[in-house]
Amino acid sequence: MQPTNDRLEQDLDPTDWEDFRALVHAVADDMVDYLKGVRDRPTWQSPPMSTHEFFAAPVPRSARPMPEVYRDLKRHVLPYPTGNIHPRFWGWVMGNGTAAGVIADLIGSAMNCHVSGYDQAASLVERQVLRWLATLMDYPPDASGLLVSGGTAANLIGLNVARNHATAQAVRSKGVASLSGPLTVYGSQALHSWAARSCDTLGLGSEALRLAPVDADHRIDIAALAHMIAADRARGCQPICVIGTAGTVSTGATDDLPALADLCAREGIWLHVDGAFGALAKLSPRHRHLVQGLERADSVAFDLHKWGYMQYEVGVVLVRRPEIHEQSFAFAASYLENFKGGIAIGPTEFANKGLQLSRGFRALKVWTNLATYGSDQLGAVIGQNIDQAQALKARIMAEPELELLGPAAMNVVCFRYRAAGRNDAALDALNIELLVRLQESGIAVPSNARIDGRFALRVAHTNHRTRGADFDLLVESVKRLGRELAQSPPMQG
Ligand SMILES: Cc1ncc(COP(=O)(O)O)c(C=O)c1O
Repeated sequence: MQPTNDRLEQDLDPTDWEDFRALVHAVADDMVDYLKGVRDRPTWQSPPMSTHEFFAAPVPRSARPMPEVYRDLKRHVLPYPTGNIHPRFWGWVMGNGTAAGVIADLIGSAMNCHVSGYDQAASLVERQVLRWLATLMDYPPDASGLLVSGGTAANLIGLNVARNHATAQAVRSKGVASLSGPLTVYGSQALHSWAARSCDTLGLGSEALRLAPVDADHRIDIAALAHMIAADRARGCQPICVIGTAGTVSTGATDDLPALADLCAREGIWLHVDGAFGALAKLSPRHRHLVQGLERADSVAFDLHKWGYMQYEVGVVLVRRPEIHEQSFAFAASYLENFKGGIAIGPTEFANKGLQLSRGFRALKVWTNLATYGSDQLGAVIGQNIDQAQALKARIMAEPELELLGPAAMNVVCFRYRAAGRNDAALDALNIELLVRLQESGIAVPSNARIDGRFALRVAHTNHRTRGADFDLLVESVKRLGRELAQSPPMQG
């Protein structure tokens, strides 16, 4: 039926679709050039004052032509990215994104699906990628799972399922105050900060998180952990979850996961594995042994926007036993009834497994990447990253001016410049300044870690664009900057 008052009504579509088509083509061309030319730009640069001023402008009240808005984006946004798409970015743990992901994001944006459930292709896509991901992790293909914003959200869901299961779901309605004793959660001192934040968020309190010491390889000390669990039980606590890590954030170490699985089976405690980046080592046939035992966990969380090389944001949680996952999040709401037919034919299956009701079509980029590259090619590049990181480690060990810090057993390499006659505090100060200069030079972006209290330059390598020569340039630049700094009087940290 034609609207009767056509002239008075408006929408937000282009008044001329052909103009829009031309703009989309121009943007597409620019984005191809942007990715193709990434190596020729600085790894990172700080936005200038003019850009700060631009983003201080008041709310725009009137419409402007889209090409004009795009000109602003080209001038003030595109030149100042985080830098993680660059071949010499190894800071924190960030992935690059892929060309296939660009296509998926464009299609996903045009479709703009709401993926809480519903009878639609997006639901089939998410179900399929969850099956694929479970298979790649050596989990049962019918394990439950959910795509979420990232590792923190995925881990939080895993821990919530553990908490609810340990209290036979009672905590969901009665709250933690109704319990006879405190619930406790365990991990190593190398655990990522998501764990304390999640204990806080889940009402357990961050002090419920009990951190066991690590051994010389930065892996959890299993005997000390067993001791802590026994002592906590003796004082009336209920241990509900042990968190193992596959790839710790500072050094990339992986806990002895088979030993943790044995301990948890003996103690009747849920084993959750934070495999934020390390879990992806499963895809490399030559390196999957590094994270062996992960498949025995009750739940596992990992990111695809890190070592899966996919565009932000996407992380995954898998829960081995689907019924436990569902019990943990199920809610009934009259406005979410489902019927024998129509779009709402099934339950809002994805919304029933996590915190979000409205959810985007994250699954599309996962599907498109896996369909384009296949798990073999992704695994080959992951293996290449580990080989490159190990070559960097060997190079650092052979350089008298550099000192390896930590085990560097997988894809994370920590090291520092060492200058004769300086103590640890002076070396910390020198290496902090070196890191800042290196980042500001635009040459490369490593980040930092404290290894046994000492400040380290940290390369976390999840970059499919890096070539061996990029690490050569890193080493040469660190030596040059280190020598320059060593000539000035020692700074205090
Ligand atoms: C080991 C580990 N766990 C969890 C996280 C948090 O993941 P996200 O940043 O995707 O929330 C990170 C992030 O670097 C990590 O390295």
